Amino acid sequence: MAGVVLKDIRKAYGQVKVLHGIDLDVAEGEFVVFVGPSGCGKSTLLRMIAGLETITGGEMSIDGKVVNDVPPSRRGIAMVFQSYALYPHMSVYDNMAFGLRIAHQSKSEVDRRVRAAADILQLTPYLDRLPKALSGGQRQRVAIGRAICRDPKVFLFDEPLSNLDAALRVATRIEIARLKEQMPETTMIYVTHDQVEAMTLADRIVVLSAGRVEQVGPPLELYEHPTNLFVARFIGSPAMNIIPGTIARSGEETSVSFADGRSVSVPIATTDARSGDVVSLGVRPEDLALAQGEDYLFEGPVSIVEALGEVTLLYVEGPSGTEPVTAKLPGSVGVRKNDTVRLHADPAKLHLFDASGKAFSKRR
Ligand SMILES: Nc1ncnc2c1ncn2[C@@H]1O[C@H](COP(=O)(O)OP(=O)(O)OP(=O)(O)O)[C@@H](O)[C@H]1O
Ligand SMILES: [Mg+2]
Repeated sequence: MAGVVLKDIRKAYGQVKVLHGIDLDVAEGEFVVFVGPSGCGKSTLLRMIAGLETITGGEMSIDGKVVNDVPPSRRGIAMVFQSYALYPHMSVYDNMAFGLRIAHQSKSEVDRRVRAAADILQLTPYLDRLPKALSGGQRQRVAIGRAICRDPKVFLFDEPLSNLDAALRVATRIEIARLKEQMPETTMIYVTHDQVEAMTLADRIVVLSAGRVEQVGPPLELYEHPTNLFVARFIGSPAMNIIPGTIARSGEETSVSFADGRSVSVPIATTDARSGDVVSLGVRPEDLALAQGEDYLFEGPVSIVEALGEVTLLYVEGPSGTEPVTAKLPGSVGVRKNDTVRLHADPAKLHLFDASGKAFSKRR
């Protein structure tokens, strides 16, 4: 079982603590994606799994064996970085073969593995070319091919697509999705800033913030049931609207009152909440729609209209004193700057967080 198990993993550079105790169990063959703001420790954690950084505290196992003191070359891992660092004077074939030759693999074994990797990544027509005669996306595929040749048990990627332009990124992302299907036993851990990569590639996403795990789960679970405000704001684009309010309870009914005096009933289990408690109501831009009648959540003037063709983003002055509420509406809408609009949301799509930022569980 080439899973990766992290137990209370800590990292400090001198006095500076970077990771504060990471617990994570990655199953064999699983594709796990690390996301989080810049500087939260994603690359550090990945490099520790690779063996490129020492482990300050905790225990790390790969394939059931503790690897804290095992050198990178003996961990059965391969890593692909943001910058692909190919040897410019070597052909694609030689770039991919290089590590295998160093490891004294036989000529026939080198050839078999290079050709198999080239086949997976559709690089066969380019084997004789030099890197300078390839596009950025093809070069990154060579870097991935070089890693595949080593037949790793665990594949690590640190933002492999971030140097590519938008179209190449999409094409190479699809290539990586295919790679995952062709190497079902290989465990993959992937760092990205890109929401779409995280949502589409991951079996599970790990959201990190300032050296701690905020939430781990399948992409749609994080999207639908973020356990705290940090994850709620981090997953989804544009970010979830967060509006401060207070709880008002009467019998079974729970409502949230806003600063403008309006209140909205929420179908959320708030047995712990008392009238007057400060809360945050969350609603995703894509869960808002223009209200037809009196049943609406917010009313306010539109400060900005962004018509993107496929969708229109409206920024609406929210219930007094809060940030504008963003609404993401399909297609184009006949709304102009300074129009007053009413926005409606299905109550089932509302999120509610307590004063500490923890989510109240929804009635399912
Ligand atoms: N060699 C080092 N010495 C001291 N501090 C370091 C060192 N390497 C990283 N750090 C610090 O550790 C923290 C985590 O860095 P890391 O590179 O893991 O972040 P990241 O999540 O990968 O960020 P990004 O998204 O920008 O790549 C940062 O505050 C960084 O400044
Ligand atoms: Mg990084």
